[in-house]
Amino acid sequence: MTAFEINGRRVESMSAPDTPLLWVIRDDLGLTGTKFGCGIGQCGSCTVHLDGAAVRSCQIPLSLVEGKRVTTIEGLSDNGDHPLQLAWIEEQVPQCGYCQSGQLMSAAALLRDTPRPTDDDIDNAMSGNLCRCGTYQRIRRAVHRAAGGGA
Ligand code: FES
Ligand code: FES
Repeated sequence: MTAFEINGRRVESMSAPDTPLLWVIRDDLGLTGTKFGCGIGQCGSCTVHLDGAAVRSCQIPLSLVEGKRVTTIEGLSDNGDHPLQLAWIEEQVPQCGYCQSGQLMSAAALLRDTPRPTDDDIDNAMSGNLCRCGTYQRIRRAVHRAAGGGA
């Protein structure tokens, strides 16, 4: 059994210790906002926070999560009102939407560490999050907006 906290709630998983955290989040806990893209750590669609750091949940075995704190897109804010979520709406960022929860989780980790990021800071922090729809410019504008720098 592996016990950890997810979105402020303590959970216990009976899945095998080598089960990827992404599987546990989606299939065991039913939190489907976190997406499966590549399964090999290359696309970022499965990004969640582990003790506050952005990680690729497809690459994290359940055993590493014991006693830790996981945050998924469902836990980023209580009412979808995180500054990034509001900025995402203002800037109409998503196209198909598939990559966007991962994008938001990476951006949230960036803003926590770097409240007023430069373009380079944003590009570096987000470089592991691919978007096949090419929303990168809108993502950058939305991160600046959420940081208080306008669009
Ligand atoms: S599904 Fe995890 S990085 Fe692509
Ligand atoms: S919005 Fe379609 S993959 Fe990013």
